[in-house]
Amino acid sequence: MFDVEKVRSGFPALQEAYNGRQAIFFDNPGGTQVHESVVAAMVDYLTRRNSNTHGLFETSARTDAVIEAAHRAAADLLGCDADEVVFGNNMTSLTFHVSRSLARELGPGDEVLVTRLDHDANVMPWVLAAQDRGARVRWADVDVESGTLDMEDVRRQITTSTKIVAVGYASNATGTINDVGTIIGWAGEVGALTFVDAVQYAPHGLIDVKELGCDFLACSSYKFFGPHSGQLYGKREHLARLEAYRVRPVGDRPPDKWETGTQNHEGMAGMTAAIDYLAGLGVEYGGAGPAESRREKLKAAWPVIGAYEGMLTERLVSGLQSVPGVRIYGLTERADLERRVATVSLLKEGTTPEQLARALAEENIFAWNGSFYAQSVSERVGVEESGGWLRLGLVHYNTVDEIERCMRVLDGA
Ligand SMILES: Cc1ncc(COP(=O)(O)O)c(C=O)c1O
Repeated sequence: MFDVEKVRSGFPALQEAYNGRQAIFFDNPGGTQVHESVVAAMVDYLTRRNSNTHGLFETSARTDAVIEAAHRAAADLLGCDADEVVFGNNMTSLTFHVSRSLARELGPGDEVLVTRLDHDANVMPWVLAAQDRGARVRWADVDVESGTLDMEDVRRQITTSTKIVAVGYASNATGTINDVGTIIGWAGEVGALTFVDAVQYAPHGLIDVKELGCDFLACSSYKFFGPHSGQLYGKREHLARLEAYRVRPVGDRPPDKWETGTQNHEGMAGMTAAIDYLAGLGVEYGGAGPAESRREKLKAAWPVIGAYEGMLTERLVSGLQSVPGVRIYGLTERADLERRVATVSLLKEGTTPEQLARALAEENIFAWNGSFYAQSVSERVGVEESGGWLRLGLVHYNTVDEIERCMRVLDGA
């Protein structure tokens, strides 16, 4: 059985006192807390391995090893090969980076498709790329009631002129998990490339880029229990073929040609530890053997995490439904909860999202108010002008007791 108290004991931030007492972290979609092994790996890097790359001396060799290990770990997380992983500051800068190269293949008459449910980091790089090249931007709509992508509209908007389809795996606003597999299939029918923003899916489920068949996929390790660092998967053929904006000495080989400048080496070490931590859950609770590969351990971990989070989602949604005046923006029917992560945006009649977040903060419950850069959907739903939503975002270290405490505060707010 998944032992949440044991899991929590491995996260130093959860033991820490804030304003004299422990906090409830429901701000996870903005960034998760890190496992103690992540802290240790970063301290170890900075203490024993700190250097730049490709030198003939010991710390440099150790740094090269850390970088190689990080590529292998991210590849295990995503289901690809190590040379198909590119590191960068965060998802947004990686997406802008690769979009510049993809833009070179666009021209008048071409189309790119973005969605109104996406975070702006998977919208503006493509809008600007299209603008630069005189291509057309199409927008796939959201179903306002359910907070889900309007799949008929997505289908309609993919045409024989579509060159790039950018879609999110899970929404950071409504929590919806999109049927990206189907969309990738439709894009494939017209020869369009697909870019998947997996930032909000990565902390909740197994990613398999080969099974999805996407061309690119990006995530950020600070959302999955690691440090601030971004990861990009690109199909080998694209990373090799596309012209990267780079300095000459890095050469023309992927992934190096995409990794501009000195990377966040301690961040890479921390990310590897975060992935190892997740893999460890597969051994401890998912029945994977200690000798199995990290990918197999991860495959065993995610269903355990998913089952626990599914229970939390159900409790969170039903708890919110019992608070008078609360409206949830996203899927709420029991049968639909599998199609969402434990990220719930809401409004409460008679209060603003800011007032709710303040009331929670006074009780040391950390939660975000606003529209979280998911600007297109907040505009489409009509909450952008009025301060967005209150967002409660849970991960596998949260508990039912925390949900109940949060509901009591919301009830009184
Ligand atoms: C869905 C989604 N995409 C992209 C981003 C941007 O990620 P980063 O901060 O790594 O640029 C976020 C950040 O909140 C997000 O939630």
